[in-house]
Amino acid sequence: MNNHIKVGMLGIGNIGKGTYQALEMNHDKILETTGFDIEIVKILNRHPEKDRGIDIPKDKYTKDIKDIIEDPEISIVVELIGGIEPATEYMAEAIRHGKSVVTANKAAIAANGKFLSELAQEHQVLLRFEAAVAGGIPILTSLTTALLSNSFSEVHGILNGTTNFILTQMSEFGKDYGEVLKDAQAKGFAEADPTADVEGIDAANKLSILISLVFGAGIRPEKIPTQGITAVCPEDIAFAKESGYRIKLLASAREQGDKLTCSVEPSMVPVKHPLASVNNEFNAVYVKGNAVDELMFYGRGAGSLPTGSAVLGDIIGIARKLGKDSAYDIVPQLRYDSDLEFRGVGESKYYVRMTVADKPGVLGRITTMFGHYDISVEAIQQKTPYECDGERVATLIFILFSVDKSLLTHALDEALKFDVTKSIDNVIRVEE
Ligand code: HSE
Repeated sequence: MNNHIKVGMLGIGNIGKGTYQALEMNHDKILETTGFDIEIVKILNRHPEKDRGIDIPKDKYTKDIKDIIEDPEISIVVELIGGIEPATEYMAEAIRHGKSVVTANKAAIAANGKFLSELAQEHQVLLRFEAAVAGGIPILTSLTTALLSNSFSEVHGILNGTTNFILTQMSEFGKDYGEVLKDAQAKGFAEADPTADVEGIDAANKLSILISLVFGAGIRPEKIPTQGITAVCPEDIAFAKESGYRIKLLASAREQGDKLTCSVEPSMVPVKHPLASVNNEFNAVYVKGNAVDELMFYGRGAGSLPTGSAVLGDIIGIARKLGKDSAYDIVPQLRYDSDLEFRGVGESKYYVRMTVADKPGVLGRITTMFGHYDISVEAIQQKTPYECDGERVATLIFILFSVDKSLLTHALDEALKFDVTKSIDNVIRVEE
């Protein structure tokens, strides 16, 4: 068997650099322990002259993708361009040319994973994407190997390093949202367009991939009820801290009977829950299996070398299978064949912060309205009233017992019509 594994890489951004460096650091150890001499022989890049702070021989660069896809010596193509297109088409072309493919591209796998994995099976090559979910954490491989003996009832993740970094810095050091976002970009955690991070789209892509592996259900990311962190204010963070919670952007999916509920939304997580202590760019995935019970995976979900570690792990995994009779891969295999009925966000406790006129009877009006919708109030807090535009107003905070999110939205729409309601400032899920 040929133990010299030649790899072609599409793109050399943050993750590409991390993959290259992780291989430089550990090439000899990998050779010693696996027998594979892995080499990145060609890199697709339009700007080879750019200084990346890493020494890559200039003759490895090409501007023509055909130099990689049509090179018979290259057996593995690593796609690190990001975005849905042209990345999907490049991966498909590589597969059609008999190459196995490794990618860190959550957007492309969430959108086109079914197409790409079927194409890979048809061409008897392998498709792996461990780095697409939770960076350096080997969650997909674990779910599809060591944990295959389990059925899972729930999965919760902190799947976006940028937003977790922002929320941690706001909460621990009182830092300003915009300032911390710039920091996250400088550290290389954020996507090229950080809207995908802060609006929860990146986490929804990752949750969609997890749902297909854990529950075998095909929920496209745009169908996942998704809310980002842009509305989270210092007031919400302060309330959470006073009340024994931390605010996290949680990506959750639950199987309840024959129904599947899921969401990506800022959530108040009790401090005693292990997810509450996952800080900064770290990610975590918490699962509950019917045999293994509770498990939490923790590690760096973003960043050059940690994500490069996952890419390299996939390359080694494929190298181990190349040349074997069974090219068919079950690890990790996307599945979309579940009978679960998709039921949106489902029910949860909620925190609601609103601004109202400071007048007698206002609290009663709002709680009566909640009563009409059969929404039960667990706790109320009123902050010291203040003057706003010549009127005395007060902030009211409600913790509501478990309620369906769409019913709550109707109730809050009604509350907004009251002349005494100035604004609904935030609605945040509260985890038990
Ligand atoms: N922008 C992503 C994050 C990178 O912040 O988690 C890893 O997918």
